[in-house]
Amino acid sequence: MKYNNIIVQEERTLATVTINRPNKLNALNKDTIQELHDAFKSLDKDKATKVVILTGSGEKAFVAGADISEFSNFSVKKGGKLAAKGQKKLFDFIENLSTPVIAAINGFALGGGLELAMACHFRVASDNARMGLPEVSLGVIPGYGGTQRLPQLIGKGRAMEMIMTAGMIDANNALHYGLVNHVVSQEELLSTCVKLANKISNNSSVAISHAIKAVNAGFKHDSNGYAAEIEAFGACFGTADFKEGTTAFLEKRKADFPGE
Ligand code: COA
Repeated sequence: MKYNNIIVQEERTLATVTINRPNKLNALNKDTIQELHDAFKSLDKDKATKVVILTGSGEKAFVAGADISEFSNFSVKKGGKLAAKGQKKLFDFIENLSTPVIAAINGFALGGGLELAMACHFRVASDNARMGLPEVSLGVIPGYGGTQRLPQLIGKGRAMEMIMTAGMIDANNALHYGLVNHVVSQEELLSTCVKLANKISNNSSVAISHAIKAVNAGFKHDSNGYAAEIEAFGACFGTADFKEGTTAFLEKRKADFPGE
């Protein structure tokens, strides 16, 4: 597929998606959101891809937010639509993907950028990264899931403070808060994510997709996480990966998962 705002690189079981608008600090405009949707959809369908790393191009920013120039004159109706469409097309879409997505936060992750990183399954940051939800400084609130995912990840009080002050936290504070799992130098960011991705790739992709579903179910108000876990756990027993994983263990060899 041909993209204008993102770069997709595939190498064996790993795909790297890079948002590529460095002159605009990789701000998310409509076209970029659509391209990200298309890329994630096609990578999720591709059985060879076991993990996706999402990052921003350049050394300055992961994503500096939604593209402010696109919505500054929107009406109430258009504003609501912007959030609804974006959540469905990209943020909820990534969170519920069967393929694990790691955010490699290489610089500013602000507003929609932090929301995008939070929609990924987990996050690794470079030590120059700065994160925040500055929306109230623009007279608006986070609209791509930030008011929900930030308190889930760091707790309500800290989330309230970040949202109300519109301030930024540095990578070490983000680590302390649990917003990111690891902080490394910018040079080591992608290699650290690749190492994690390789570890993930050794495991059953089918079981991982069930685990993603079960974990996410616990954070939705219209579903029961424990019930979803029981269902997903049971479903694993019908998979070839389960048969291979348990047989390999009993035969004292490394599992070679068929991915089914
Ligand atoms: N939307 C649209 N354009 C953006 C953008 C955004 N969210 N963030 C940065 N840009 C653009 C700037 O307008 C500038 O474009 P220009 O060179 O054509 O004027 C370019 O990216 C570089 O940004 P600049 O502000 O000059 O860089 P800086 O180093 O001085 O500041 C930031 C960096 C991240 C502090 C600053 O860009 C910023 O505050 N961005 C907005 C963050 C935000 O509020 N995001 C939430 C949106 S809901």
